[in-house]
Amino acid sequence: MAEDQTTLFRKSWGIYDALAAENYMHHRELTAIVATQLREVSDSGPWSLLDLGCGNARFLAPALPALLPSRYLGVDLSSAAMQEARETYLSGLDRAEFLEADMSEALRVQSGPWEVVYSSFAIHHLQLEAKRELLGLVAAALAPKGRFLWVDVFRRKGEDRETYLEGYLQTMREKWCRVSPADLDAACAHVAEFDFPEPLDDMMALAAQAGFRRAEVLAAFGQHHALLLSEPAQH
Ligand SMILES: C[S@@+](CC[C@H](N)C(=O)[O-])C[C@H]1O[C@@H](n2cnc3c(N)ncnc32)[C@H](O)[C@@H]1O
Repeated sequence: MAEDQTTLFRKSWGIYDALAAENYMHHRELTAIVATQLREVSDSGPWSLLDLGCGNARFLAPALPALLPSRYLGVDLSSAAMQEARETYLSGLDRAEFLEADMSEALRVQSGPWEVVYSSFAIHHLQLEAKRELLGLVAAALAPKGRFLWVDVFRRKGEDRETYLEGYLQTMREKWCRVSPADLDAACAHVAEFDFPEPLDDMMALAAQAGFRRAEVLAAFGQHHALLLSEPAQH
């Protein structure tokens, strides 16, 4: 079977997980910012959380039991990652459910409304048209005061994908040294073939077209950003 953007996560989940555990993508800082948002939501009443491309949810998991979502649904195409979420990281969370599915397909069948949709480092794998479709589906699935928390890599204004990749791969080779050379090679090959981050300003415009009346950057660490998209127009 041909490799696709999820092959690394389905067959070699441990490679990505080891890199994430070293915090090379700033998961810790970005998830702390997301957790602050979730605290605000949970303080204003019952809330539900849809996690698109959840992986093993290891970074968000520690915050969730205290924030008591009425429902958590993790969606991913990697059963290996979701098995870890179910059996390890989210084993203490009542009401955690998982769905092995494509993100957009999941939004079509799990229509919501959701108080929070969250996605961390997954949407950059989609092509532009699929990103456009996904943003529309998320806007439609959110509750009137719902929030879409989108953590991901983005390109700079005017930067093409080739230039972005040159810079990102150079950083990986120079700074991501606490994994084996073979695992780093596999990770670099995955990024070079399957990462399609868009320019941030283009995504802000796409969010407005999808119906979000508010879009803000909550934080950025190099290419790694946390965005808050809210006030979906259909409500
Ligand atoms: C880089 S990992 C991120 C995992 C986790 N959210 C995190 O931040 O550590 C990307 C995840 O998105 C999943 N993924 C990629 N494309 C997907 C799609 N179209 N539908 C569902 N999951 C997808 C992969 O299987 C993988 O688990």
